[in-house]
Amino acid sequence: MSNLPNSQLMADLTVQLPEAPLTTAQRRARFFNSGNAFNIKLPPVPPASFNTHAALALDSDVSATFECDQSGVLNCEMAATTPLMLARYLSLATDDEQNLSAPASQLICFVITGTGYCRDDDEVWEWGPGDVLLLPGEGRVSLGADANGALLWLVGNDPLLAFEKLRGSAESIEPVHYTAAEIRRQLSLLATLKSDANTSGTALIFSSETLEAERNITPSLTLSFNTLAPDCTQRAHRHNSAAITLIVQGDGCYSMIDKQHCKWQQWTTMVTPPGSIHSHHNLGNETALFLIVQDGGLHYHARTMGFEFVE
Ligand SMILES: [Fe+2]
Repeated sequence: MSNLPNSQLMADLTVQLPEAPLTTAQRRARFFNSGNAFNIKLPPVPPASFNTHAALALDSDVSATFECDQSGVLNCEMAATTPLMLARYLSLATDDEQNLSAPASQLICFVITGTGYCRDDDEVWEWGPGDVLLLPGEGRVSLGADANGALLWLVGNDPLLAFEKLRGSAESIEPVHYTAAEIRRQLSLLATLKSDANTSGTALIFSSETLEAERNITPSLTLSFNTLAPDCTQRAHRHNSAAITLIVQGDGCYSMIDKQHCKWQQWTTMVTPPGSIHSHHNLGNETALFLIVQDGGLHYHARTMGFEFVE
């Protein structure tokens, strides 16, 4: 029982304004309290499978972007797949060139089909199916397709920048090209090595000359190419980073995400919510390949990754 004359609960108090502001800056102040603005609950990130976007993008006769957008359920102001990341499929029409003007400082790109080139000022380099590219947004780089067009999968930190009302810098990250042949070579090397009980599956982790010390691809994102042999399961685990997965190869595979059965389909984008308990299962006859982008760099930096096996 409160001894104060006003026994109204702190939780029921409405937003408080300054009583007598003298300046515009003072007038902008607002006050909440530990009863009505503590342990704030936002709409959770739902598990999701975007399994029609790739087909729509492949059918497109013109260059177009197909966003994996959950901003409505996430209550985000801009398109977002998770609160801090946006995945999209970019269809490039035959012989077309598109400036990569996404409001992101970091874009991770996987070439699904087609061949083409990147143009960065005077520098031009070619890419093909299975290649991975790390690119800055903000219009620095252009992507062009050759005669058969191309389909690319891109994940950027656009929602993170929008959350902070920031713009990326074209100089924020140097382009990096990981060729499909080199990726295959690296995966072959891993296949010859043993893992221990604390290793989460067999995965190739991408980094760059700039972030070699951090063992990461960008300051805020992580990228791994995971493999799962036939008749194998990646142990159930959880982490506080959200994950966006592109199914590259995996007939007969599925994931369990918070007890939901998620059947795999090639080129689907799958969302694993932060903190969810999840496992991956391969009942097929070939090694499963899946590319995973996480907002892991942020969690590593904040010491909040919280990875643990749960069985
Ligand atoms: Fe995971």
